Amino acid sequence: MSTEIPKNQAAWLTKAGTPLEVGDAPMPKAGPGEIVVKNAAVAINPLDWHMQDAGVFVQQWPSIFGCEVAGEVHEVGPNEKRFKKGDRVIGHTVNLVSGRPQDGAFALYTVVPAAKAAILPEKISYNEGVVVPFALEAAICALSLKIPGVALPGVATPALGLPYPSLEDPVPAVNKTIVVYGGSSSVGSMVTQVAVAAGLNVVSITGARNFDLSKRLGATGVFDHKDPLVVEKVVQSVRSLGKDFVGIFDAISTEETYPHDKAILSQLGGGHLACSHPPPTDVPDNVTAGMIFAVNDIAAPVWEDYVTPALETGKLQRLPPPTIVGKGLEFVQKALERSKAGVSATKLVVEL
Ligand SMILES: NC(=O)c1ccc[n+]([C@@H]2O[C@H](COP(=O)([O-])OP(=O)(O)OC[C@H]3O[C@@H](n4cnc5c(N)ncnc54)[C@H](OP(=O)(O)O)[C@@H]3O)[C@@H](O)[C@H]2O)c1
Repeated sequence: MSTEIPKNQAAWLTKAGTPLEVGDAPMPKAGPGEIVVKNAAVAINPLDWHMQDAGVFVQQWPSIFGCEVAGEVHEVGPNEKRFKKGDRVIGHTVNLVSGRPQDGAFALYTVVPAAKAAILPEKISYNEGVVVPFALEAAICALSLKIPGVALPGVATPALGLPYPSLEDPVPAVNKTIVVYGGSSSVGSMVTQVAVAAGLNVVSITGARNFDLSKRLGATGVFDHKDPLVVEKVVQSVRSLGKDFVGIFDAISTEETYPHDKAILSQLGGGHLACSHPPPTDVPDNVTAGMIFAVNDIAAPVWEDYVTPALETGKLQRLPPPTIVGKGLEFVQKALERSKAGVSATKLVVEL
């Protein structure tokens, strides 16, 4: 029997605006409701380089951040029944809210809340599976909250109150249509497929080269964000479906997208505007605008009941596909720089 004691290492942020430094880290311990994952792959999100550049959301220095992992369960917390040592899992990590370094993904071992993890089927590689966790939780937060919460001081979360994704085939139809702006982004892709799996129709706005991706995810209509007639085409597409218009999930949420959002909502009689960043403040009374905050217990039933069987059947697709930046924690810094430069329809992944 091996007596080797595992050692942890992490890509540490010691000061905002400086490169990550790979070094030793304490070995995490699983508390109640937690597992420790030996990471095989971690994925990069735009949030990560905001945290690195400006120190936003960093509560404890030096910091280990990063939002999602795939790997093998190394330890389970007391009374944890869903997982056992050796299970292959994906999970959403919560350093963003806890501030604890052991909850950051950019390490060899990370604590993951058991309620934000799921078994990864054997046939799916860690590199493929790791594109799911953060986007999944963001999508559930965008679509299924029933009561608005607080995203930032003075900024409410959206509360669209839509059903969870269903494993039924065919999915029970819901007589509703939602527009997804930025349908080829990681979060926009997941909102598209989760909304479709909840029975909605999706009309999406992407770059022209990514129409096929959005259609694979189930969008009924896809329109080019660079098309000068994009607003009119989206409005026409929503009208032609003849369902109730829920509103827009805007994964991009910039000064470029907000005028389009407002024009679409105006022509379709108002609705929700669920944004990935603080929403515009000048919306009319018939628009309910909010910003998602992608860590919420509302996602627990989806993690527990939906993710593994949906991955198994292919209903939950691992899209957009990963781009592997390199192997080893040293590559996290390079991956952050690539993410900041911008990606199209892919998720940057570092193998460990
Ligand atoms: N508030 C929260 O809790 C939360 C959670 C997660 C993410 N976010 C934020 O949500 C945003 C998206 O994150 P992500 O990881 O999904 O991003 P991402 O995958 O890195 O986004 C890349 C995609 O953005 C698309 N895009 C860029 N400009 C566009 C435009 N004008 N119209 C339509 N699509 C456009 C590109 O589409 P094409 O290549 O097709 O042109 C590209 O595929 C980030 O700003 C992130 O910080 C917020």
